Amino acid sequence: MLTHDQDGRPSTPTHDQDGSPSTLTYDQDGFRRAGSPHRIVSGALHYFRVHPDLWEDRLTRLRALGVNTVDTYVPWNFHETSPGKADFTGPRDLARFLTLAAGLGLDAIVRPGPYICAEWDFGGLPARLLALDGLHLRCSDPRFQAEVDGWFDCVVPELLPLLAGRGGPVVAVQIENEYGSYGNDARYRAHVERALTERGVDCLLFTADGPEDAMLQGGMIPGRLATATFGAEPAERLAHLRRYQPAGPLAAMEFWIGWFDHWGEQHHVRAAGEAARSLDELLATGASVNLYMAHGGTNFGFWAGANHTGSRPGDPGYQPTTTSYDYDAPIGEAGELTPKFHAFREVIGKYVPLPDSPLPGPLPRITPALAAPAGAAPLLAHLPLLGGAPVARPAPEPMEKLGQDHGLIHYRTTVTGPRPAMPVRIDGLGDRAYLFADGHPIGILDRNTPDDGVDLPVGESGVVLDVLVRAQGRVNYGPLLDDRKGIWRGVRHGHQHLFEWEIRPLPLTDLTGLPWSPETPGQGHPAFHRFTHTLPTAPADGFVDVSDWGTGLLWLNGFLLGHYDTPRGPQRTLYAPAPLWRTGENELVVLELERPGTQLPLRDQPDLGRPTVVTLK
Ligand code: GLA
Repeated sequence: MLTHDQDGRPSTPTHDQDGSPSTLTYDQDGFRRAGSPHRIVSGALHYFRVHPDLWEDRLTRLRALGVNTVDTYVPWNFHETSPGKADFTGPRDLARFLTLAAGLGLDAIVRPGPYICAEWDFGGLPARLLALDGLHLRCSDPRFQAEVDGWFDCVVPELLPLLAGRGGPVVAVQIENEYGSYGNDARYRAHVERALTERGVDCLLFTADGPEDAMLQGGMIPGRLATATFGAEPAERLAHLRRYQPAGPLAAMEFWIGWFDHWGEQHHVRAAGEAARSLDELLATGASVNLYMAHGGTNFGFWAGANHTGSRPGDPGYQPTTTSYDYDAPIGEAGELTPKFHAFREVIGKYVPLPDSPLPGPLPRITPALAAPAGAAPLLAHLPLLGGAPVARPAPEPMEKLGQDHGLIHYRTTVTGPRPAMPVRIDGLGDRAYLFADGHPIGILDRNTPDDGVDLPVGESGVVLDVLVRAQGRVNYGPLLDDRKGIWRGVRHGHQHLFEWEIRPLPLTDLTGLPWSPETPGQGHPAFHRFTHTLPTAPADGFVDVSDWGTGLLWLNGFLLGHYDTPRGPQRTLYAPAPLWRTGENELVVLELERPGTQLPLRDQPDLGRPTVVTLK
């Protein structure tokens, strides 16, 4: 049962029942919490992937799973409002989330980066860093370290009162994230460690890396606990970690119990029975664990990341992550207690005491219905309303150079005639470009097929060339982290570089002024399509079915639910949680970029695509 203080925040129990502060330490034999032997059985749950009105519900479900700890990253780019300034209110109220966890009897592990990976845009780094020429990310480049200091100046003061030594739930803080998978800069690792300790973080600090030699060597910090991230064969993986961590506790800081999806793949699942057996094997070794993810949640807005490890033949190329981050986790995207929940709970109960409160019941769902069409607005006709006045630049520039983080970006130039039709090509495209000649769609270019061109019909008197670029997630893992959006090299017509551009960032943060007309723009004309739906009853969870549509974005009552991409799949419904709906009229807006549909059904069940069993390492 939670108690609340006068601000309505749940109050934090400051001490264990015996009155000792609940700090976490370790010695040769293992972890100790408030002085007694302890095993961390943790579940990852990211507050930034859950509507804040549902934090308490999801944490309650997490506690019911039997775990004693919640783990969350803290994404720098989600909090930063301008360099050195950050927002910790509303959906970003980290202290509220952690205090709720404490009220449910959970300890917390916090991973503030600066890099977090996490299938999150740019691994949590702010997009503006990509506008700093010559900056080297995640190393001892003094400019990068100064940026890291600026972030820790913001986030550490939020964390300090929540540390276990001061009566809060935070028992441990992670330094960087799987750093050895990216680099090997010992000075940088030491800088991040110092940046935390010098600001007062005095709880247990640790690193987490893949259990491979290069990764552990690149990521560990002398004198700090090393933990491992993996999904299978726990005994072997932990034995490998043991070679580097000769004494003290072993911890799987990420035990991948499911997996995420990219657009264009099948939906990944990991069988409940097999995952539970593997968890049992892990816990039987005596090690601690963090289930990644216990509840995955949703990549709302523009926050989904992407993978890209190379463009050699056979490489998958750039792979944006889907909007759902269900992760086939024990607690489903809409809070469902899945068969995996029950299988895991049984295993966890063998090792730590389970709470005796009854399991939370299912949450209400909306009644299936068709949303009613209510007009459309072509995008190119409303550029000034969406993007203000364009800026003039000799060559195309990426959105980061114009101070834009997310959305679409529009480039316009004029090509003189007469001249024969020749292909237009884009050098340095992030991620997909829609080309128009005098307003008529002429083709699409994609970053995964960089040699493709689109024939530009010029005619006698020349042509206006419009290039509308859609950005998806920035790469969050691997060597190709600096992933700029829009156009970052140039546009050619044949071999001739095209110069003199008007550029308009379209961040799509406010669609309120769009005039809706009954005419529906056809295929190839990017447009907003408005629908309404009247809820006669109290708001409840729903799933918007986009399977009749091509690819684009979807808003509910002004909140961006995320990207959809039906032809590539696998996801065919977007989760619309109860707090976003209103009793009475609701507005849904679809920005369709390629192939408009007609129907927008609202469902009471998700469709994340055809499941395929993932093999994890
Ligand atoms: C690694 C990272 C996590 C996440 C998982 C895959 O372990 O540390 O942030 O990206 O992979 O889901």
